[in-house]
Amino acid sequence: MKGIILAGGAGSRLYPLTLVASKQLQPVFDKPMVYYPLTTLIEHGIREFCLISTPKDLARFRDLFGDGSAWGVSFDYREQARPAGIAQAFLIAESFIGNSPVTLILGDNIFYGGDTFHRAFSEFQSGATIFGYQVHDPERYGVVEFDAQGRAFSIEEKPKQPRSDFAVPGLYLYDAEVVSIARNLEPSARGELEITDVNREYMRRGALRVYRLSRGFAWLDAGTTTSLHEASAYVQTIERRQGIKIGCPEEAAFRAGRISLAQLEHTVSRMPNCEYRLYLAGIIDEAKRGDLASK
Ligand code: G1P
Repeated sequence: MKGIILAGGAGSRLYPLTLVASKQLQPVFDKPMVYYPLTTLIEHGIREFCLISTPKDLARFRDLFGDGSAWGVSFDYREQARPAGIAQAFLIAESFIGNSPVTLILGDNIFYGGDTFHRAFSEFQSGATIFGYQVHDPERYGVVEFDAQGRAFSIEEKPKQPRSDFAVPGLYLYDAEVVSIARNLEPSARGELEITDVNREYMRRGALRVYRLSRGFAWLDAGTTTSLHEASAYVQTIERRQGIKIGCPEEAAFRAGRISLAQLEHTVSRMPNCEYRLYLAGIIDEAKRGDLASK
């Protein structure tokens, strides 16, 4: 499966922070925001990435990610000239997708915990897979409604009167059909190609699977100043408490077998003296002692 990271948008809700760097490059505690969704996809076996951003910001992402070899992955970079909707990503990335299934993750969505994603990625065969997560403010999101048997039977984008409390997070898995579905979409009232309309089409075809994310799972979006601050506080709390890092692509790549211990050592040797380097040095020590699997 290939992976798209969508890191576009004007980031107007984070103004004036976004005058100097795009939303997905803002710090969430100790790393750039986009490290979190990137790490999520590396953890789930994605090797080929397409990063989509604005013409203005794309160069910054190239600086940050390079060719991806430090993480054992590859990057294609594509421009989204104007924010015309999440589903436009599939048209921009059409030649990247080819005939492959593809997962799309939003560059401001942070996920932590649970094994539902692992199940969803390993069980994926065709059609579409999305997720439902209980929130207190579903009207801000795509909202999915379940019937008594737990099957999803309606999805609406930012409904004024939500039919459920289950929001659809910004991680989606599709077969290659998604390109033709996106091509046939009409822009919504806000002038965008809506990801919710893609999901509705898969639902109409009987090919949509929705996994509910459990209570203990954390889904944070960091698109407003308050949620950005809260996301930082959350990451700091977990990291300090557990002595681990969330959203560390080097660690994820190493644990997923994407890079060897020697490659990890090489990458770390080029980092300045900092807490991030110290953390990875600890991972290397553990691996050398042979007890990495214990974490
Ligand atoms: C978008 C999607 C929405 C989804 C949300 C997740 O919303 O349109 O369906 O629930 O991402 O973050 P937007 O970023 O446009 O507010």
